[in-house]
Amino acid sequence: MTDPDLSRPTANNIVAFIGDIFERREEEYLGEPFTLAGHMLQTANIAENNGQEEIIVGALLHDIGHFTSEFGTFTMDDQEDKFHEEAGAKVLAEFIPPVVTDCVHHYVAAKRCLCAKNSEYHTRLSAASVYSLYLQGGPMEPGEVREFKRNPNLAEIIEIRCLDDAGKRAGMKTPDFWHFAPMVQCLSIGLQMHNHDQ
Ligand SMILES: [Fe+2]
Repeated sequence: MTDPDLSRPTANNIVAFIGDIFERREEEYLGEPFTLAGHMLQTANIAENNGQEEIIVGALLHDIGHFTSEFGTFTMDDQEDKFHEEAGAKVLAEFIPPVVTDCVHHYVAAKRCLCAKNSEYHTRLSAASVYSLYLQGGPMEPGEVREFKRNPNLAEIIEIRCLDDAGKRAGMKTPDFWHFAPMVQCLSIGLQMHNHDQ
């Protein structure tokens, strides 16, 4: 039996495609004392406590753009924002429901919004997150906050943001990607069926 072609994501291989990324790049760090894949697994693991599948998968995949972006991986030496959230949402949009891709796309904006509205929130951010905040435009202006709040998936986006901030514990043990894979599969099949019926 030949290995599946994982050179690009398709509706048939999306779970294996993402799982392959988690496995191949499990050792990569991003300016924090935990690996990037480990951070996404922590975030999903914490999300599991509330049990909503879209939130768990959104948490699991929120930083996937760091791996799929043609701009490469963010480091603390970067002098400009590389828009990993847009890259991640773009890759996933074909395969994962819009509520999840909205969370992936806007969780950075959620940080900018929360920093504008709540000064205590800012003090809870990790050093790397504070650093990237200023590359990402800093706290939102009032007009940006008003626009952002119009997103129909605002509650889910804010939840992913809070989970992202919580999933940054050095040494936390988590399940691996394959524990969450059936949820990714389920959402992907659901989107395919929905699109087929349109
Ligand atoms: Fe993150």
